[in-house]
Amino acid sequence: MQAKIATSKRFNIVSLTDWHCPYHDEKALEVALAFCKLIQPQIIIIHEAHDFYSLSSFDKDPNRINSLQEEIDQVTKYFWALRKLCPKSRIILLGSNHLYRLRKYLWRQAPAFAGLRSLEIPKLLDLDTFKIEYKDTFTFRDVLFKHGNKVSSHSAYTAKKEFEKEGMSGVTGHTHRLGQYYATKRGGSYTWIESGCLCDLNPEYIEGTPDWQHGISLVSFEPKGKHFYAYPIPIVNYEIHWGDTTICLKDKSAKYTVGLTAGIRRPQAGTKGKKQNGRIEKNIKPNK
Ligand SMILES: [Fe+2]
Ligand SMILES: [Fe+2]
Repeated sequence: MQAKIATSKRFNIVSLTDWHCPYHDEKALEVALAFCKLIQPQIIIIHEAHDFYSLSSFDKDPNRINSLQEEIDQVTKYFWALRKLCPKSRIILLGSNHLYRLRKYLWRQAPAFAGLRSLEIPKLLDLDTFKIEYKDTFTFRDVLFKHGNKVSSHSAYTAKKEFEKEGMSGVTGHTHRLGQYYATKRGGSYTWIESGCLCDLNPEYIEGTPDWQHGISLVSFEPKGKHFYAYPIPIVNYEIHWGDTTICLKDKSAKYTVGLTAGIRRPQAGTKGKKQNGRIEKNIKPNK
């Protein structure tokens, strides 16, 4: 056998997209945060964490309107948790259509206030406190991370469109679907990921069943050079299966509100060949 198994430290970027607080799925978010705790990615990309329903230009259902501050506070709790779980990670919040509702509202309703520094997105969301950067898009080596604004009818169709538009590899959210598109050209091999979502998959304001999937994505680079592996990672039944490791909830019936109670289940030593029940090895709690 000529192949060999080599290990080396990777440079990992995890994308956590489309939370849509307060229409987020607490359990899916718990598992996504626990995965970050496990991987300790060098960079964490976040987009569309806020829904900002009250700022949308569409006609609004008065029953759905939450306090803007409450909505911001809800996301802030997750920002705090993520910063504590991954103290060394560079965390970047990208712009998205729902986040831009803030800016558009100002432009529409109070244009004179639009240039005020204190009303800019990083200030309003208090991003400095959590050492979170804010950007419209982010490119690392040859991979573009952005929210996206296209929606096609099937998984990976949007990924194909984004690749055709950008001509490079990338990762987007926005569709709330998981998918991956590959292309090999004379200039090289490319891939584009649709990153899934962390919001409620059956929100009451949508008729029928939306074609959405819970998930996150990981782009794992060699320490040097441009070579990378890119994976969409499904969260199925509130679990991520990662090799022999399972990131799962300790109690699926519990109510989760940034409880950070998801755990990492690893196979027990000496159980090879036997049924592996596993055990919850670690309670994921923020580092104090
Ligand atoms: Fe979204
Ligand atoms: Fe979006």
